[in-house]
Amino acid sequence: MKNKLTIGLIGFGCVGQGLYDIISKNSNPFIQIKKIAVKHKNKKRSLPMQHFTFDVQEIINDPEINVIVELIDDADEAYRIVKNSMRNGKAVVTANKKMVAEHLSELIELQNTYQIPLLYEASSCGGIPIIRTLEEYYNNEHLQSISGIFNGSSNYILTQIFQHGNTYAQALAEAQRLGFAESNPLLDVEGYDAKYKLIILTAHAFGVVIPPTDVFNIGISALTPRDLSWIRQAGLIVKLEAKAEIVQHNLLRVSVLPILNVPNSALGNISYEFNTVLVKAAFSDQQQFVGKGAGGHPTGSAVLSDIVALHYHYRYEYHKLHQSNNQIAFTNAHIIRILLRTKQKELLQQLDDCTILYSDNTQDEIVAIGSISLSKLNEIQQALLTTKSFVAELNEQAESMIRKTLIRHEALKSLTRLISAC
Ligand code: HSE
Repeated sequence: MKNKLTIGLIGFGCVGQGLYDIISKNSNPFIQIKKIAVKHKNKKRSLPMQHFTFDVQEIINDPEINVIVELIDDADEAYRIVKNSMRNGKAVVTANKKMVAEHLSELIELQNTYQIPLLYEASSCGGIPIIRTLEEYYNNEHLQSISGIFNGSSNYILTQIFQHGNTYAQALAEAQRLGFAESNPLLDVEGYDAKYKLIILTAHAFGVVIPPTDVFNIGISALTPRDLSWIRQAGLIVKLEAKAEIVQHNLLRVSVLPILNVPNSALGNISYEFNTVLVKAAFSDQQQFVGKGAGGHPTGSAVLSDIVALHYHYRYEYHKLHQSNNQIAFTNAHIIRILLRTKQKELLQQLDDCTILYSDNTQDEIVAIGSISLSKLNEIQQALLTTKSFVAELNEQAESMIRKTLIRHEALKSLTRLISAC
């Protein structure tokens, strides 16, 4: 990379402004933002208008600009910008997880074809430097799993609900106001955002590139006050967990779904917009990374770190992808234990070893526990979403706590019925 990094910044939302602010405060002599491309002509801006252009091509074609920093949230437009910029010989830094996850194989090829670096640390888990850690620190170690909380907005909402008794709607509005949520917040609360991040990390951690549609995701959007009430009674909390784990020799399970857990646990201790990544490795054992997963400054700081890395010619090597003896393959055949709360009785037929723990008087709402493969869950994902069914993965401890609570609840109901019949 040339000595001076002359940046064309595309997008001036929460992260773009965060980056601009950090660069202004750092006064780094080899970094200069030459121009910022924005879309909306009538939006009020925090900088004088001479900093801006409404024409992205002006930036991509400017011979003086050698780094494109792409921070827009339209993944399709971002893809076009990134490709054209690389073709034009410009290094690219992006935070767009959807775009990277959906086109990862091609983006790796483009880096080789044009011999141009593309860095995207800010795409995954905001301020936690996890991609470079996987690339550089764990490049030779066999990993057993990477898992954690990869979506700041969902975690913020769950914290507001469980620790402060706020409603889901209030908490979501607050996450939007603080700039944590995507412009379409369903991407956050239905687990898509965490899935894109997981796919990116899985490529670096295990050398496996998986199309997003193959990976099951569901989020927290179906949680009702009644769900919350019995989850609380059981002494549990909900966290949205992203997980890639070797489940059998060389077979990798990958998914995003809520889990029920005790509050004092590795994920339970992570609150608000904080993210965490748990890495389980063959020799270094388990390590936990924690940091702010959303917000202009934490994410902007990850973008700046990539820009600075370009200055010392850094590029991803994709070590695990290129290891000739890497035989890890993605599987959806893995079977997990879940709790399912639904109004749609047909969905219960998808569960093996199904136990109904609770059904209300009208049989309109059923809570059941059972086993199901990730491929079956992926097949019924749309049905789960449209019927607003709540799904959560259970470990043994959570299953036993839920069973005790709901069975006690049913016993109380029968007792009440008996007493009123007397
Ligand atoms: N909407 C994302 C989140 C922003 O809440 O985590 C950071 O990627």
